[in-house]
Amino acid sequence: MAIYVAFFFLFAILLKAVNSTTFNFTNHCPHTVWPATLAGASSPPLSTTGFQLAASASFSLHAPSNWSGRIWARTNCSTNDSGEFHCLSGDCRTGKLQCHGAGGIPPASLMEFTLNGADGKDFYDVSLVDGFNLPVAVAPSGGRPGCDGATGCAADIKSLCPPELREPAATADGSVVGCNSACWVFGLDEYCCTGKYNDPDKCGPTKYSMVFKKACPLAYSYPYDDETSTFTCIGADYLITFCPSKVF
Ligand SMILES: *[C@@H]1O[C@H](CO)[C@@H](O)[C@H](O)[C@H]1NC(C)=O
Ligand SMILES: *[C@@H]1O[C@H](CO)[C@@H](O)[C@H](O)[C@H]1NC(C)=O
Ligand SMILES: *[C@@H]1O[C@H](CO)[C@@H](O)[C@H](O)[C@H]1NC(C)=O
Ligand SMILES: *[C@@H]1O[C@H](CO)[C@@H](O)[C@H](O)[C@H]1NC(C)=O
Repeated sequence: MAIYVAFFFLFAILLKAVNSTTFNFTNHCPHTVWPATLAGASSPPLSTTGFQLAASASFSLHAPSNWSGRIWARTNCSTNDSGEFHCLSGDCRTGKLQCHGAGGIPPASLMEFTLNGADGKDFYDVSLVDGFNLPVAVAPSGGRPGCDGATGCAADIKSLCPPELREPAATADGSVVGCNSACWVFGLDEYCCTGKYNDPDKCGPTKYSMVFKKACPLAYSYPYDDETSTFTCIGADYLITFCPSKVF
């Protein structure tokens, strides 16, 4: 009997290792958010590409253990009188809850994953390269010893955002729904790390990227911010928290 039980567990562990990784979402914001998922070029879409997550709610999603893609959350979403769904931040312009392969409009805090990548490692990060719309954290759970810890951005960068980067709500009340990147606002090569700045040695932090880095040292603040912003683990599931009180 014991041997069957042992085989069962061995099989379960192998199945987990070979087949799937769980993303467990929890919403600690005092309001509803609408998470979205976008698979990378050679990965299949997850079972949902957009869903609603009420305050305090959690939800689990399974991904193939070699999945790559990005996850973000939309805020202030509603369905208008013509039945079109849209959001004041992170909107994917499908007019529906599901993003169906569309990305979010910046600014949006992104969580990026490459599972089972180089050396069999999962790579994960939080990126503010496309701006910030709400605090997020990613924490590996149950991975092998030697895994990196949680990453994320717990600060509310909207309140620290330089006026020229603020994303005003598409409503008249003067509220801010996000903080844009300087690349998105000004489109200059030195902020985007494009053109002659398309090189890690030539594209460094700027006064704008440093606003993001100072508030959230673990998150990407410009495209070549790899050294302090890329994290790895093997064999983990991932806890994704919106509006975490802290990252660790
Ligand atoms: C997801 O994480 C939360 C918070 O850690 C936990 O309470 C919940 O049981 C988890 N859900 C699943 C399905 O793992
Ligand atoms: C992931 O694994 C599946 C099944 O082994 C394979 O068909 C697919 O090409 C892999 N995808 C990537 C992105 O490596
Ligand atoms: C967006 O949603 C938040 C949280 O519900 C709310 O406080 C804020 O007023 C909303 N902003 C707009 C412009 O509707
Ligand atoms: C609903 O939103 C769509 C897409 O933004 C827009 O084209 C349409 O005019 C809106 N309808 C109403 C009644 O506001």
